[in-house]
Amino acid sequence: MQQEIHRDNIAGNKDVIVINRRSFFGALLAIGTAGMGALLSVPVLRYVLYPLYAKASGAEWSEVGDVSEFAENATPVRKTITFAQLDGWREVVSAQSVYVNRKSDGTFEILSAICPHLGCSVSWQAAQTDFVCPCHGSVFQADGKVISGPSPRGMDRLPTRIKNGKLQVHFEFFRSNVPNKEELS
Ligand code: FES
Repeated sequence: MQQEIHRDNIAGNKDVIVINRRSFFGALLAIGTAGMGALLSVPVLRYVLYPLYAKASGAEWSEVGDVSEFAENATPVRKTITFAQLDGWREVVSAQSVYVNRKSDGTFEILSAICPHLGCSVSWQAAQTDFVCPCHGSVFQADGKVISGPSPRGMDRLPTRIKNGKLQVHFEFFRSNVPNKEELS
């Protein structure tokens, strides 16, 4: 089935436009496909670029807890910290997990729970006294050194300080899957 549309052109003559059903649905399908492709590419682009454009802002130090919470030589303690980030033009509050180790000399070491391989969340396995990444099986010692698996480096250590009896951390993001720590924010 086809439809003819008649209209006057600039020269005053008649143009006849023929639209048949097949070309109409073909054009509709092409527009729909292009639209879906554009929509689907947004999360993929965000995944690829994040956290290249996510910048820490505001208070640089996040509170982890009272110093007395962490016993010396105990196993790593998981804590969730929050901090402000700039995501494009918006400021959002981000939450991340860290692990706190208190060493025998009383100093603190805080490790990011983000796996340096491809960014999954590493967890402490008390039974085997190691950190294990559930995604591709990287295994790390309690101090974050890599034991096995595809991770090209150990768990990332974060800057720490003690203020008014509170342990604080400066959270940073690092590039995935490279042998040395490269800060992203
Ligand atoms: S993301 Fe952790 S081993 Fe791949």
